Amino acid sequence: MLSGKAKLAGVFGWPVGHSRSPKLHGFWIEQHRIDGAYVPLSVRPEDFAYALRALPRMGFAGANVTIPHKQTALALADHVEPLARRIGAVNTLVVREDGSIEGRNTDAFGFLENLRHAVPDFSAATGVSVVIGAGGAARAVAAALLDDGAPRVRLINRTRSRAVEVAEALGGPIEVVDWEDRAEALAGSNLLVNTTSLGMTGQPPLDLALDALPRDALVTDIVYVPLETPLLLQARLRGHRTVDGLGMLLHQARPGFLAWFGVMPAVTDELRRFVES
Ligand code: ATR
Repeated sequence: MLSGKAKLAGVFGWPVGHSRSPKLHGFWIEQHRIDGAYVPLSVRPEDFAYALRALPRMGFAGANVTIPHKQTALALADHVEPLARRIGAVNTLVVREDGSIEGRNTDAFGFLENLRHAVPDFSAATGVSVVIGAGGAARAVAAALLDDGAPRVRLINRTRSRAVEVAEALGGPIEVVDWEDRAEALAGSNLLVNTTSLGMTGQPPLDLALDALPRDALVTDIVYVPLETPLLLQARLRGHRTVDGLGMLLHQARPGFLAWFGVMPAVTDELRRFVES
């Protein structure tokens, strides 16, 4: 039940109808009996600057930002966390007490927390990671791996120049590998991450032979529809440990919820089932 003092947050997107965030945050609001609401904010690109500025004026604690507003949010926020600047996108806005707006990126956190939740002793520092893709998700994943101490990240994208751009923007031990050499690049690695949309329902699968991947390597996908992508199925059948992408979505939401509603929520099996349904 909402009172007149209810805390408010939401998710900006266009379209926003597919977003699972209202369901996810709604679950936590109910679980913690918080006097608050989290709503979809369907805002056209041309209206986004105006809508963002309205957040503090309307008493919102903040908001998530999804496609296509993540880069604009970076440009518009009054304060931008260094990590969000490195990644080049803001997915979480927090209204400060003085009414200014802080931009953060919690995707890197969500990616690592998801792996740690599934494999408690996971550390990127223990070996070479291979990342497929060079979009916004790839930037967050590569930044997370570098910050977790990865000695080397092999970045592989169909359009090589985009991977080079990511490597230059992030710095650190990123090695860009040609798309044609992707199968061989798996040799000696202990983590494989797909950050492209390949394997998503309605998209072709990622065309990647896993023969060179060491058996103890972990395989994860940021695609979560279906939960077990063709890549994860292929990896599981070879005996690899696999981690699906739904957890990244759930974990990236936690820091925003803490900032807006004052509680660090947990990712549980019950939450996973609820968000999937
Ligand atoms: P996001 O920012 O959400 O990650 P994006 O910028 O559109 O989305 O990036 C999508 C990624 O999927 C890119 O790395 C893209 O490769 P290109 O840079 O070459 O476009 C990759 N991708 C999409 N379709 C692909 C396909 N059929 N084969 C190989 N890579 C593909």
